[in-house]
Amino acid sequence: MKNVAVIGAGTMGNGIAHTFAQFNFKVNLIDISEDSLQKGMTTISKNLDRMVVKEKITESDKETTLRNITTFTSIKEAVKNVDLVIEAATENTTLKTKIFKELDEYCSIETILATNTSSISITEIAASTKRPEKVIGMHFMNPVPIMKLVEIIKGYNTSDKVVNTIISLSKTLQKTPIKVNDYPGFVANRILMPMINESIETLYNNVAGVKEIDTVMKLGMAHPMGPLQLADFIGLDVCLSILNVLYNGYKNPKYAPCPLLVNMVMAGKLGLKSGEGFYDYTNHKKAEKVAKMFS
Ligand SMILES: NC(=O)c1ccc[n+]([C@@H]2O[C@H](COP(=O)([O-])OP(=O)(O)OC[C@H]3O[C@@H](n4cnc5c(N)ncnc54)[C@H](O)[C@@H]3O)[C@@H](O)[C@H]2O)c1
Repeated sequence: MKNVAVIGAGTMGNGIAHTFAQFNFKVNLIDISEDSLQKGMTTISKNLDRMVVKEKITESDKETTLRNITTFTSIKEAVKNVDLVIEAATENTTLKTKIFKELDEYCSIETILATNTSSISITEIAASTKRPEKVIGMHFMNPVPIMKLVEIIKGYNTSDKVVNTIISLSKTLQKTPIKVNDYPGFVANRILMPMINESIETLYNNVAGVKEIDTVMKLGMAHPMGPLQLADFIGLDVCLSILNVLYNGYKNPKYAPCPLLVNMVMAGKLGLKSGEGFYDYTNHKKAEKVAKMFS
């Protein structure tokens, strides 16, 4: 496997493209606009600069990594000759099933189709294709170049051969793959999102302020960052859509998103990516400082 396509150049897509390119895969990176692609490439370049400064890679590694990535605005063009597609577009079932229908039409029959979805059913996405045995969840964590875990989700029809291929590919990227079954939220978000939601509920109920809640969890539970800051990093819109998948999937009120989270998303306060969430990132220096915590 040498040629891959990544759909979406946002938070996750640019990290996934960066990681594959750094391990010498040829990556076709696709987004709907040149502007999103440009932003994604700028982020990759800045993240590589940080790795050069920390002497994790050389300047020449950086140049090679960037050369391994080609950008596209058309899925059809970009997926013609690839062995694997990793879809990392916006978390929305209708959008993802539409993309997978197109992929099924344009990709070679041998191509494995993976999705980086945080919570949407792999089985449902696979059902929109004529190759459900080749559809799999490859759930990278944020920030992708740093985080070791890849949650590998076996859909109802995913073949063992495809699961084993993706497990060994993840190891090639120096990640630790963990295989799980396909139920709403899988393992990572089924456990993480109720904790984030409860921390928002704690703020909403005025039990404590943002910093206090995060400090209790950081110092008391030895978490590297507080749940509210983590929510800002993930994106509050992403958190809301995962909670809705859990709520609708299990029909259990314990997953109902906190009204404060719903309000913040409606108001466009999406966390780091919009400049404001539970914390304010509009100050450039502050945002840089926060970004460094992740590198
Ligand atoms: N943010 C996280 O921490 C995180 C972690 C793990 C998994 N995920 C999952 O990764 C996926 C992407 O999330 P994100 O946080 O990167 O979102 P994001 O909003 O940062 O980026 C999504 C990108 O997809 C692009 N896009 C939308 N429709 C498209 C289309 N038809 N074709 C090509 N590109 C399209 C958008 O323009 C945008 O650039 C989601 O499924 C999300 O659940 C997110």
